[in-house]
Amino acid sequence: MSVLSFPERGRWGKASWRGNCSGHVYKAIFEQLRPKFFIDPMVGSGTSVEVAREMGIECLGLDLHSGFNILADSVLERAGREADLVLSHPPYHSMVVYSGKQYPGVHADDLSRCESVDEFYEKLHVALLNQRNATCGDGHYGMIMGDMRKDGAYHCFSAEMMSRMPRSELAAVLIKTQHNMVSGRTAYTAMKYPFILHEYIVLWKKSRRIASMLASLGDMAWTAQRRLTGTWKAVVHAAFIETGKRRVDLADLYRAVSTCAPGKAAINENWKAKVRQTLQLDSRYRNVQPGIWELAGV
Ligand SMILES: C[S@@+](CC[C@H](N)C(=O)[O-])C[C@H]1O[C@@H](n2cnc3c(N)ncnc32)[C@H](O)[C@@H]1O
Repeated sequence: MSVLSFPERGRWGKASWRGNCSGHVYKAIFEQLRPKFFIDPMVGSGTSVEVAREMGIECLGLDLHSGFNILADSVLERAGREADLVLSHPPYHSMVVYSGKQYPGVHADDLSRCESVDEFYEKLHVALLNQRNATCGDGHYGMIMGDMRKDGAYHCFSAEMMSRMPRSELAAVLIKTQHNMVSGRTAYTAMKYPFILHEYIVLWKKSRRIASMLASLGDMAWTAQRRLTGTWKAVVHAAFIETGKRRVDLADLYRAVSTCAPGKAAINENWKAKVRQTLQLDSRYRNVQPGIWELAGV
């Protein structure tokens, strides 16, 4: 089932550990994936490993609170061998702060102490690559992660990680219902958007084809390049629609692109050349006379 909802957290781990996860969630994942060796590199109060031990699964729990830093230490080196499931439950940015609050000593690499969302993305990406490196071929790595609404912006951390990790390795996305939220719902009745009550469990399956970190970066760069090209194609197409004309001269198209995608125009100073290149490479467009383009089938 791709939707998990467990109102009870069960007897595993500690209910007092802020941001803890119900042990039933881990139980459901273990029953599905049947790992032989499981690693949780951000184990918190130990929920996941307590469930694993009870199910007879060999396991290792690591955390910043007990001297393991996923941004500095290799998960693989700590474990001594690859695991077939490396699942973490990182902080959701600064929603719950751990070092210096949940345990003594503020730590600069605590993922809950990132100054900005971009810093969090970079660090979370490093953590996932570290997890991936400790996963055997055909094994799974992943994370339990929530969304955050802050200062008027909505951040879907899972979506960002799905776009950064190798697309061909994405294996499953599960939705988990949140229960027993500390803040409760009463204060949120005046909010315009719904109170966030879901989290994601994102699982990737490590491909044997992408063996090294370098090869995995190559795969990600290729995906990113395709996404960028695809975005330019979509922007030019939307601009064509915006003009409302069958045939468009380049000046009109440039104007429409700058309204449809002002950010895009601002970040790429060669954006007009990019528009022309997109028209030339896409067979849907015909250059009917110098400076005039037609969208085929309009
Ligand atoms: C959401 S809690 C995990 C809760 C756990 N699933 C449970 O049920 O108790 C996130 C954990 O990530 C740990 N953490 C934060 N930054 C870390 C880092 N750089 N390396 C390792 N662990 C880190 C925190 O110490 C915290 O225990």
